Amino acid sequence: MPIKKMIVTDFRNFKSQTLQFSDGINIFFGVNGAGKTSVLEALNFALTGRSFRTSNIKSTIRENADKTIVFVQASDKQKNVLYNIGVEKSFHATLMKLNNLDVSSFADLARILPVQVVEPSNLNLLEGAPEGRRRYLDWLVFHVEHEFSHQWKRYKNILKQRNSLLRRGKMEPLELDVWDTQLASYGEYISESRQKNLEELQPFFSKYLNIFGLASIGSTTFKYVKGWEMNSTLLESLKSSRENDIRKAHTKSGPHRSDIRIELSGKPAGEVLSRGQQKVFCVCMKLAQCDYLRLRSGKESVFLLDDIASELDSLNLEKVYESLQELNAQVLLTSIQAPDIPTSQIKRSNTVFHVEHGIISQKN
Ligand SMILES: Nc1ncnc2c1ncn2[C@@H]1O[C@H](COP(=O)(O)OP(=O)(O)O)[C@@H](O)[C@H]1O
Ligand SMILES: [Mg+2]
Repeated sequence: MPIKKMIVTDFRNFKSQTLQFSDGINIFFGVNGAGKTSVLEALNFALTGRSFRTSNIKSTIRENADKTIVFVQASDKQKNVLYNIGVEKSFHATLMKLNNLDVSSFADLARILPVQVVEPSNLNLLEGAPEGRRRYLDWLVFHVEHEFSHQWKRYKNILKQRNSLLRRGKMEPLELDVWDTQLASYGEYISESRQKNLEELQPFFSKYLNIFGLASIGSTTFKYVKGWEMNSTLLESLKSSRENDIRKAHTKSGPHRSDIRIELSGKPAGEVLSRGQQKVFCVCMKLAQCDYLRLRSGKESVFLLDDIASELDSLNLEKVYESLQELNAQVLLTSIQAPDIPTSQIKRSNTVFHVEHGIISQKN
């Protein structure tokens, strides 16, 4: 489902900008500091409530302004539906609207339109912390399992309560039992959903590792690591690690500690692949989940590609563009150079924007 239009007000160095997108590829070029990444960031913020470069969303409010507003319009041609999404962030509040009605959580907006970000700092999924891999997998599970975000929210709440009880030190075992039962029930659901989707993703990984020539290096396996003892239920693990949890004042077992172990011919993929190959591998992981999502639910993703020409060689870049075209994914990409439209994209609708210190002008 393509995004037709975005209006950005007081976001980073943009005072007020209206952008009309094409369904294919949209290229933003301009010098460092012009505001290219901020365009992608604004779109990502409106659809997810997050920024991919800061956890402090308030820092996106333009200097001397008291709030930022981003409006996004997307159209689902098949269903003949128009989605008008509006998000307003001030220093003390966040307001979200969908077709003029108040929305209480960003999950309701994120569900409409899957957005996939590819930028330098998220191309280290292999060697980075487990949190990045968990977030990667949860992106998919969120989009395919309707219940997931609710269960995850409940899980995190209970985990917080259990941890604060542990920190207080004094507690009745019975009290802890109550939390453990609930934590285990949500935790098992989260774990099963992740595991199932990771398994179903495998053929899609293979497809892209093949396309990008990484399959010849060795056979790849993706294993879900639950975050507690392998052959126990979560409830059993919570019970057996209780003394230790009390001593450390936090909960050691659960899907908040899970991971994906990625191996190539039995060795950690990060040890086998060069830095450049690792980046290509991460791109394959992202393409694979969008391919799977499209097949399973019909949802087409929007790809935000920030400065990837400086990360990938031209052959791999061309393969990325071809794959995105196959996926019918709308693309917003940034580049320092005035762009050559990639050969494979000439036939796709495309729009080129020049970004200059907070002013964006359309070039075609
Ligand atoms: N809250 C803000 N208010 C005003 N300007 C900002 C704010 N945050 C960042 N900027 C400026 O916005 C510009 C946008 O940077 P960025 O989008 O990273 O540019 P590019 O990706 O083109 O290199 C930078 O010059 C930065 O100093
Ligand atoms: Mg940038």
